[in-house]
Amino acid sequence: MTYRKWVVGVALACSVVSLAAAPSRSNADQYLPRLGDIMNLIQVRHAKLWFAGQAKNWDLAGYELAQLKQSLTDAAIFYSGLPVNNVTTLSQPIQSISDAIAAKDGKRFASAVTELTSGCNACHATMDRGYVAIRIPTDKPFGNQDFRPQGR
Ligand code: HEC
Repeated sequence: MTYRKWVVGVALACSVVSLAAAPSRSNADQYLPRLGDIMNLIQVRHAKLWFAGQAKNWDLAGYELAQLKQSLTDAAIFYSGLPVNNVTTLSQPIQSISDAIAAKDGKRFASAVTELTSGCNACHATMDRGYVAIRIPTDKPFGNQDFRPQGR
């Protein structure tokens, strides 16, 4: 567990701007989210990340990427049955997305998110969950959120 946390932490930690202090894990014994529930959060963040990038709202994209990365880390730490390689290989596309956000490069962003998406599906295939097929989102599911950059 400690080694695992280290591996996942080292692989995923470096790339993305950290926006908030690390959350306290002291209440983890009281409530352990189910893996499928963490995955649903990851799905939401994957979609919001995409739409933020499409809207060139790079602040929001950076935020969603950090959130997605945190949820992936949670999944890997809480669920030791997850193949750690399938988590750590995502550090490559996550780094590329982070670089694309920093460079405000929409094209690079799109290809890096596509690469990330393949990583999602590679793990699902390994885990006999190939029927959970993730793709670049087509429709905006969040009518209550404006993805455009907001004036400061
Ligand atoms: C290391 C392995 C792994 C990676 C990486 C991974 N997943 Fe999953 N995912 C799973 C497993 C295992 C399940 C099934 C969970 C269960 O049955 O409780 C799952 C289930 C899901 C589900 C179904 C949840 C539901 O209730 O409908 C979604 C959606 C999902 N993943 C999205 C993603 C997205 C998006 C990514 C990439 C950003 C991703 N996953 C990356 C292992 C992974």
